[in-house]
Amino acid sequence: MAFGAAAIWFAVVALSLYASRWKRHAISEDAASKVILWAGVAFPVAVLTGLLTYALWLMPSLRPFADNERARLHVDVTGSQFWWHVVYRDEGGEAVISANEIRLPANERIEFSLTSNDMIHSFWIPSLGGKMDLIPGRTNRISLRPTRQGVYRGQCAEFCGSSHALMAFPVVVMERGEFETWIEARRDPSAGTENNVDGRALFFREDCGSCHRVAGTRAQGSAGPDLSHIGSRLSIGAGLLDNNHESLARFIVHPGSLKSGSQMPASPHLAGVEAAGIATWLKGLE
Ligand code: CUA
Repeated sequence: MAFGAAAIWFAVVALSLYASRWKRHAISEDAASKVILWAGVAFPVAVLTGLLTYALWLMPSLRPFADNERARLHVDVTGSQFWWHVVYRDEGGEAVISANEIRLPANERIEFSLTSNDMIHSFWIPSLGGKMDLIPGRTNRISLRPTRQGVYRGQCAEFCGSSHALMAFPVVVMERGEFETWIEARRDPSAGTENNVDGRALFFREDCGSCHRVAGTRAQGSAGPDLSHIGSRLSIGAGLLDNNHESLARFIVHPGSLKSGSQMPASPHLAGVEAAGIATWLKGLE
């Protein structure tokens, strides 16, 4: 499409230069009618029909599954200002909860159910397929079939507030076996929950668990992203920063200055050792 559009653009520019610079005399009405008929009607109809046919031919792979079909893997995604709640469901319906990152097996059609908690957001992984709105009070469906392993970027594609542009997520496409291993490990609470007791105690002292969930602990909040295995995610803050101790600690202290409009309160009193302790505990939740 880009090459076709470029060719047409150059042709139109060349024709207008030809008409305005080199061949500045009127043409007969008969010739003008022919130009309009062929270049103004027939040519666009042919090109647009071709493009429409091509687009319709691409569409079946984006259609959701019929009610009597079942995807092997089903992913529910809920958008919130400005993060993504992600739930994986296998054939048995068993769920694994995560946030701000999506992992998928390659060469398999995966169905997504999309909804929102607040604004209209839009789910878009440009390298893997079309986009679809997440609308409060309604569930939209889309399916994707990633064919190549790798890490792709997903992005909210509908303006949803001050940090709309910072509402992203990495998408990791893995081999089926590798994906199984990954998701199996996420069915149980992270082994890291008992490490770094200081960080863990601070997390509970600050009541982080009333907004965030950490599987296997009493932190069962749902207002903010699930943190159960956050240590093994590629990024934090919905694709905002690389996931390391330093950025975790920074985000804990000043979420709003890194991400304007974030609902998470700032905790300047934790700056230093305490934020670093919580960050260490979180990084250990692999
Ligand atoms: Cu969510 Cu833009």
